[in-house]
Amino acid sequence: MVQPSSFWLFFLYNRTMKIILSKNKFILKERNKNVGYLKFEYASDASIKGRNVEIPYCFIKLEYRRKGLAKKLLNYALNYFKKKKVIWVSLWTGKDLEQKKAYTLYKKFGFKQVAYQEDYYEDGVGVRLFVKRLNS
Ligand SMILES: CC(C)(COP(=O)(O)OP(=O)(O)OC[C@H]1O[C@@H](n2cnc3c(N)ncnc32)[C@H](O)[C@@H]1OP(=O)(O)O)[C@@H](O)C(=O)NCCC(=O)NCCS
Repeated sequence: MVQPSSFWLFFLYNRTMKIILSKNKFILKERNKNVGYLKFEYASDASIKGRNVEIPYCFIKLEYRRKGLAKKLLNYALNYFKKKKVIWVSLWTGKDLEQKKAYTLYKKFGFKQVAYQEDYYEDGVGVRLFVKRLNS
């Protein structure tokens, strides 16, 4: 029997996923099951009028990780922000064992580190402020 190539398995797998926007959260769903989300907040300063967005958290369920789903979610969110004429997207992340994944993820999407706060967490782990410019 002919086996489907990994390309087609990936293609079919991705077709079962969809992203919905609920309040300030992009939710990734496999059929009716939530498998991850990306939260965002607009800067509250009225004079900025929705031009600055912060991403406080992005999460993919353990059993769904390493399948490119965080990339899919982030890509979707950035395209959405771009259409909404958002200029700056920012987020804080660490570089400890767990957060290093997010650190590399954001760097791959062109986020630049602009600040570092050492000893931010009680266990001595620092955090980094990343920003990305979307529109001029
Ligand atoms: C960080 C997190 C969202 C990544 O989700 P994911 O769906 O597994 O990520 P992807 O498969 O889309 O991978 C995207 C990139 O992240 C990095 N990455 C993800 N998992 C990694 C791992 N275990 N080791 C090293 N790098 C990793 C890689 O750079 C990867 O790109 P690549 O596949 O081209 O190598 C997920 O691990 C998670 O929910 N962690 C707990 C919550 C958290 O720490 N959130 C970030 C704080 S804001």
